[in-house]
Amino acid sequence: MSVTDDLAGRFRTLWDEIAPIGRVAGSGGYLRYALGEHEVLLRAWFREQAARREMPVTEDGNGNLFAWWGEPDAGDAVLTGSHFDSVPHGGAYDGPLGIVSALLAVDELRAAGVAPVRPVAVAAFVEEEGARFGVPCLGSRLLTGVLDADRAAGLRDAAGVSFAEALGGRPTGARPELVGRFSAFVELHVEQGRALVELDAPVAVATAIWPHGRWRFDVTGEGNHAGTTRMADRRDPMLTYAFTVLAANKEARLRGAHATVGRVSVESNATNAIPSKVTGWLDARAAEPETLTGLVDAVQAKAVERARRDGTEVALTEESVTPLVAFDGGLGGRLAALLDAPVLSTGAGHDAGVLAGHLPTAMLFVRNPTGVSHSPAESATDADCAAGVTALARVLAELACH
Ligand code: GLV
Ligand code: MN
Ligand code: MN
Repeated sequence: MSVTDDLAGRFRTLWDEIAPIGRVAGSGGYLRYALGEHEVLLRAWFREQAARREMPVTEDGNGNLFAWWGEPDAGDAVLTGSHFDSVPHGGAYDGPLGIVSALLAVDELRAAGVAPVRPVAVAAFVEEEGARFGVPCLGSRLLTGVLDADRAAGLRDAAGVSFAEALGGRPTGARPELVGRFSAFVELHVEQGRALVELDAPVAVATAIWPHGRWRFDVTGEGNHAGTTRMADRRDPMLTYAFTVLAANKEARLRGAHATVGRVSVESNATNAIPSKVTGWLDARAAEPETLTGLVDAVQAKAVERARRDGTEVALTEESVTPLVAFDGGLGGRLAALLDAPVLSTGAGHDAGVLAGHLPTAMLFVRNPTGVSHSPAESATDADCAAGVTALARVLAELACH
């Protein structure tokens, strides 16, 4: 058995410990909502793994956990890790791969007799997907002060539970002295496309994240009887909603951008009633900020015009926006050279995108044979995950161990 096979086996053993947590029997996907029952189990597992490795765990008061290899107060620490939460019925790898790989990378370095000169911190960030409280990268936005603690405290999930209630208290918010203790952040993540399949390489270094955001559009009309209301008399918000979805798709295609409406809520949600209100969430992304702004403006204009014709009203609310992230050229280039790895940009959001505004940040992507993500079909082979661990260990050795 080669050393790599052995590492792939160790990856599988650790991975199998968390694989059943939050897995849905029917879809095979995961329901790992931030601070929900399954994510809480994963956080407990993280603490136990850290304890086994004699890595003290600290919390930042915002729901983010850090397991330290080396002295937490020493400064110049190298941060790695990712998140445990998933989108509803998401894949196994988006998030947890970065945490499991980081723990194994520490094991690899220790086994090789390498010790950190600067501390290494493995993070488990809270609510990266925004699937429970609506704002993605909630933990890293709070930590860095990008999001106000009061606003975060009041965000509510579908059952009406606030983030503060789920957390057990108001979040602390910005922790500049903690952020100042980190000299770099490197997040390993499963690739969310097939570029590495096409490049025939197991690992890449990220160059940039497209600017992206979420906009809620509330369309209000008049709830009424499906059988007795004449077609000409209706003020049906579903029509405005449907038109807006099609307009978003068209406007995105025209610009080479991405627009998705993957979430909708309907009142009263009855088969035999014209809805009184339809709320949709637009996820929009583009390579350049102007393209993104132009896309959202065009969708809004079309929605308003359609609402006028439907006798409805539409209001667009920005829920979160992440600007263009160009990862620190020096660090990314250095890591690409170190690993002899290709470089990729991505349309997906990450905590690394938030941290990049505050410290040198880079990402490693691990090949995903299906290219599918945010779905149970997301995958990575154990051999490629082992290659990811090896790459991350080399990066940590480079940044923290001499
Ligand atoms: C997170 O995965 C996102 O890109 O929305
Ligand atoms: Mn994701
Ligand atoms: Mn992720």
